[in-house]
Amino acid sequence: MKNEFLLRVTDLSKSYGAVQALQGVSFNMRAGETIALVGDNGAGKSTLVKLLSGVLRPTSGSIDLNGSTVDLTSPDVARSNGIETVYQDLGLCNNLTVAENIFLGREEIVGWGPFSFLARARMRQKAKQALDGLSINVPSPDQNVTGLSGGQRQAVSIARTRLWKSTLVMLDEPTAALGVQETAKAMEAVRRLQKAGVAIILITHSMPMAKEMSDRVVVLRRGKKVGDVRTDSVSGDEIVSLITGAREQQIEAA
Ligand SMILES: Nc1ncnc2c1ncn2[C@@H]1O[C@H](COP(=O)(O)OP(=O)(O)OP(=O)(O)O)[C@@H](O)[C@H]1O
Ligand SMILES: [Mg+2]
Repeated sequence: MKNEFLLRVTDLSKSYGAVQALQGVSFNMRAGETIALVGDNGAGKSTLVKLLSGVLRPTSGSIDLNGSTVDLTSPDVARSNGIETVYQDLGLCNNLTVAENIFLGREEIVGWGPFSFLARARMRQKAKQALDGLSINVPSPDQNVTGLSGGQRQAVSIARTRLWKSTLVMLDEPTAALGVQETAKAMEAVRRLQKAGVAIILITHSMPMAKEMSDRVVVLRRGKKVGDVRTDSVSGDEIVSLITGAREQQIEAA
């Protein structure tokens, strides 16, 4: 039986020593939904994403996927649960090619035992298909990622999520360092993920982007959830006043 919620975060907290970065945050997310995660600098957005991507362990609280509590002990465990994270600059290995990055940690093997080899040709082919499906121009799967632009690097990360059939993709400020054209392309890639039914958590400081791309907006302030609203029920200004604390929202269950 299918569970109503893809993701259920309950009373999640994270401290770095004396710093309470996240305090008792709870929210639910349905399959295929897009949440814009917003908040001022230091509000706890990246911390929340790191907890959900297995980079950090929570101090307390729980994470449920499809109705079962999961312990995301590492990024690999999060990935095997269908959660992939796209970072602007982190997340890719500079000494490797596009195809090698896409298959990093999940390399395909041909042969058996001492006679096994990396299936390079097959991985190149699949990498190329995944990139073509995004229509972002990455010259070749054999290119070293060092020479790629911010948008192209992101395309490589997004191609990885497609290939691994991730059900939840988190993007931490995907367009922060991109130019106008690259931003448009990155957003187009996110739209394709949405069309493919992938649930998305999009961290952004851009209110127009939050408004345009999301179904719901979750607002953090000083580590606490202070807003959880349907995107079409608020204006950009109202979101900003939740972020700054000029306005308080009575939080209802979404
Ligand atoms: N590794 C760390 N060690 C100690 N404190 C940290 C660490 N990472 C984050 N913090 C603190 O935790 C709080 C939340 O940080 P976080 O990076 O989650 O914020 P953010 O909402 O992503 O901010 P921004 O919009 O600037 O990226 C901040 O007070 C920050 O200084
Ligand atoms: Mg951050």
